[in-house]
Amino acid sequence: MTTGLRSRKGSTMRTPEEFLEDNGFNTRMLDRTQLVAAFNREMEEGLAGRPSSLKMLPSYVSPEGELQRDVPVTVLDAGGTNLRGATVEFPTGSDVARIEHKEKGEMPGATAYVSPDDFYATFAAHVTRTAPFAKNPAIGFCFSYACETNPAGDGKLLHWTKQIQAPEIIGQWVGAELIKRLAPKPSRLLVLNDTVTTLLAGKSAEKPGAHYSAYIGFILGTGTNTAYVEKNANITKITDAPVGGSMVINAESGGFAKIAQSTFDKAMDAKTHDAGAQIFEKMIAGAYLGRLGLEVLKAAAKDGFFSKEAAQGIQALGSLESLHLDNFCADFKTDAPNPLDRIFTSATDRAMARRLATPVFERAAILTAIHLAAFIVKTGGGTNPSAPVCVCIDGSTYYKTRAVSFPTIVQAELDKMLGPRNISFELAVCPDDAPMVGAAVAVLLKR
Ligand code: BGC
Repeated sequence: MTTGLRSRKGSTMRTPEEFLEDNGFNTRMLDRTQLVAAFNREMEEGLAGRPSSLKMLPSYVSPEGELQRDVPVTVLDAGGTNLRGATVEFPTGSDVARIEHKEKGEMPGATAYVSPDDFYATFAAHVTRTAPFAKNPAIGFCFSYACETNPAGDGKLLHWTKQIQAPEIIGQWVGAELIKRLAPKPSRLLVLNDTVTTLLAGKSAEKPGAHYSAYIGFILGTGTNTAYVEKNANITKITDAPVGGSMVINAESGGFAKIAQSTFDKAMDAKTHDAGAQIFEKMIAGAYLGRLGLEVLKAAAKDGFFSKEAAQGIQALGSLESLHLDNFCADFKTDAPNPLDRIFTSATDRAMARRLATPVFERAAILTAIHLAAFIVKTGGGTNPSAPVCVCIDGSTYYKTRAVSFPTIVQAELDKMLGPRNISFELAVCPDDAPMVGAAVAVLLKR
């Protein structure tokens, strides 16, 4: 017996859910236990310096120490889309950072190729602008890309993600290159991953009396990644870590590759600038969900799920923003035209397109939970309910997606996975402007 729909030609065809599963696109059927274990195995390999899809990059930053107060410092924040510069200070007696002289522009290379000189000049201009207001001569630079960090805190770009077009920067020590273009020179320049700054910002904003056993910084925006605190003794691939103590590890979790891609993931990945890389990020992050949904809709059109006009319309669509797919699935209208509203005009086509594409967001939310579960387990914390693991979360995809609620799904999934293991955790909204706040924390922590 089949529960399939009737195709337009009268024969029985698959349901949208069967179509997705036949193409390897699983949501409910995801093997959570197996994936958590695979994440944990890759983390161990990465810490030991053996081949792993998780880079597990040491940050040489410890989250412990007293904050220097009432001293504004220059910060930079290079994200997937935007670049910001500002000064940040922590006033005595307040748990909220004061951010001033903030200006925002486009991240160089985000929409078109940029040369190294123009790339660094954009950052240098922010430093020159904020320098007169900074009372501490160091700079905290939140750079949301995969960097190897040295003990002095500089970062060497290992590869771009988020489709940034600035190939010459790969392999460069970004802090040293920027310093070459600055006068006067800063006393120190720390290049920090945004997951590291999120973790630091979350910890610095903790309310008095809060008691956590471990900390995680997690981003799900244009890209995705996770940081947590690891004992130096467990980071066996490095020999220059301070003896004793712990430091934040930037896992580069978007690179996780021990997961089966669906037909749609593969088709989308093949069209990116970095095919074969960032397999996990391409399943859950904002830069990719629209493209992924477009692959699903195009394949479904070929399979006869839409009217002829809608099928032709979707096949002719060259690209799709995640925001448009999300607004369409949530039936959320804005003043700006949405290409999917133009293509799916009948109620039947619209309902079918939503049923096929909403799982793109559902799967992303479940995978987010699975990967957070693995990091929560890895911290070794949360075994006492009065000291949960604090998961500090930032990112537009996590908080702003309308088609499904990431916070609700992630909380429910984590409860299911970690409840039986008696591991306590808390999902915390990170402070506003966490990249800049955390970059200032890193510079102003007195050790
Ligand atoms: C980058 C990470 C970053 C994450 C979130 C990824 O594409 O590789 O370094 O932390 O995006 O911004």
